[in-house]
Amino acid sequence: MLKIVHYPHPILKRPSKPLRRVDDDLRSMVREMFDLMYKAKGIGLAANQVDLPLRLFVVNTEGNPEKGKELVFINPVISRPRGTAEAEEGCLSIPSVYGMVKRPKEVDIQAYDLQGNEISASLSGMMARVVQHELDHLDGTLFVERMSEAGKMTVDPELDEFRWEFQNLRSTGGIPSDAELAAKWEEWEAKYC
Ligand code: CO
Repeated sequence: MLKIVHYPHPILKRPSKPLRRVDDDLRSMVREMFDLMYKAKGIGLAANQVDLPLRLFVVNTEGNPEKGKELVFINPVISRPRGTAEAEEGCLSIPSVYGMVKRPKEVDIQAYDLQGNEISASLSGMMARVVQHELDHLDGTLFVERMSEAGKMTVDPELDEFRWEFQNLRSTGGIPSDAELAAKWEEWEAKYC
């Protein structure tokens, strides 16, 4: 049973390790990631957002299982950034916080799908933005860190609420200690990385 973790859960700061094997358990976790993403009204979700330290993310830019295309990106690499575009972003790990983020307008991506097929594409628009946001997650970066200084000041009081909520959950045992989390991540890495 996976669930989406919120800022400032420590896995969101942890760079994810490349995946070296795919099995039925992993395929069912990826299915669960899509379902959680749809339920939360998202269009992309990185594995570390469900407390899995693995280098993969899922995307469906329609945010609807009946529409659009379900894409899984394993060990993604982004290259050839072109241009700049600014648009509003949000994140399922910081629900109801939004802000403007500048990113390259177009990028190339190379990755693998669950069947081991190579994905290679030149992306623009929404798709280019989503994969950059998700790849940032795998490197331990959140969109709020890419906002302007003024934007960061605007969202800081909202982030404070998340920090307070996290401390609260920690102190009541709702979130394991750093040592317990690290032990679990190492188990996942030993199995898949
Ligand atoms: Co996000």
